[in-house]
This record gives sequence, structure tokens and C-alpha cells, in this order.
Amino acid sequence: MPSPNIIWHSRKISRENRLELTKTKNKVIWFTGLSGSGKSTIAIELEKKLHEKGILSYVLDGDNVRHGLNKDLGFSTKDREENIRRLAELTKLFYDAGIFTIASFISPLKKERDLARSYAGEDFIEVYVDCPLEECEKRDTKGLYKKARSGELKEFTGISHSYEVPENPEITINTKDKNVEGCVEEIMKYLKL
Ligand code: ADX
Repeated sequence: MPSPNIIWHSRKISRENRLELTKTKNKVIWFTGLSGSGKSTIAIELEKKLHEKGILSYVLDGDNVRHGLNKDLGFSTKDREENIRRLAELTKLFYDAGIFTIASFISPLKKERDLARSYAGEDFIEVYVDCPLEECEKRDTKGLYKKARSGELKEFTGISHSYEVPENPEITINTKDKNVEGCVEEIMKYLKL
């Protein structure tokens, strides 16, 4: 609960007013999936594609945000909850700012993803980046799966920490069978852009 001594300041310009400037109805594209599934790679290409179409967009990336805003958090269930709670709040602000917001976090917990969804309603598009654990482990782009298997890295998603598969995502993309370009195309098609 916030302190009883702080009040909410109402403003004179709303998201709808801001959209009159951007001329695009912005959305939240929330990528969720295992480490190495391809979330950030697709997010970065999607941002580029939207930018080329003149749409103001911004990627919020798990690794990057953990360098700053969330650098005090680790990977216990409690810290991940707090990580995603803060990121849901951050996403809410970006959404309210009128920016096409692309969130790329493992976000293993349904409860926290649903919190983020509640802030953007029908403009929330959950994209499950579905890639089998074996494939993510084979790619092991950051060498983290190796460390997780050896026990050097604890609480690693998919190995020693659980991931709750989305039940009703708006989009599921399989990055084992589809290349990055194809994945971006699929999302753009869904967005009718
Ligand atoms: S989340 O689970 O809290 O949503 P987040 O998306 O912020 O995770 O950060 C995930 C990134 O942190 C991974 O892409 C990986 O590079 C790195 N990482 C470091 N340790 C872990 C771990 N134990 N589990 C998962 N990812 C980890």
C-alpha cells in the first residue's frame, strides 16, 4: 500500500491525447519463453520493423533492465515476482505514454503476466515464444545452460526453476521451425500492420 501521505496527481493530457500525436493505437507485445528461445532477437527485429513503418516503439529487455532498474534482484521465485511486477508497472507507463511497447522477459509466472495484461486490456498481446528446452540448450548462446547443468548456476529456468507455459496466448511462435523474419511477419500480420 502506498503511504497515506502521497496523493495521485491527475493530469490534463491522456493516452488518447498522445495517440493523436503518434497517430497509431499502441499496444503491448509481451514475449514470454525460456532463455535462448529467441524472445529478444525477435523483439529487436520487431522494433526495427515498426520503426521503419513510422511507429514509435521501444523494447524492454530482461537482461538490460537487470543492469539498472532491477539490478538488486536475483532469480529466486520472490525476486522474479518482484522483477516482473516492476516490469509490468514499467510497461504500464510506456503503454500510457502511447509507445508501442515490446516486453521481452522470461516471465515464468502466469500470475505476473496476468498483472501486466490487466494494465493494457485488449491491447495486451502475449506472445509465447515456444522453443523446446532441448533446442534452447543446444543453442546455449550465453553458455548459461552448461553452467546450470553443472550446478554452477542455480535456479535456472527450465532446469532448476519452473516455467509456467501460457494457457491462452494471443500468439504462439515456434522458433525451432521458423526463422526470425518469419516470426516478425507473423506478429505484423496479427497486428494488421
Ligand atoms: S525472469 O525469470 O525474471 O523473467 P528475466 O527475463 O528478467 O527473467 O532475465 C532472464 C535473463 O537473465 C536470461 O536471458 C539470462 O540471460 C539471465 N539469467 C541469469 N541467471 C538466470 C537464471 N537463473 N534463470 C534464468 N535466466 C537467467
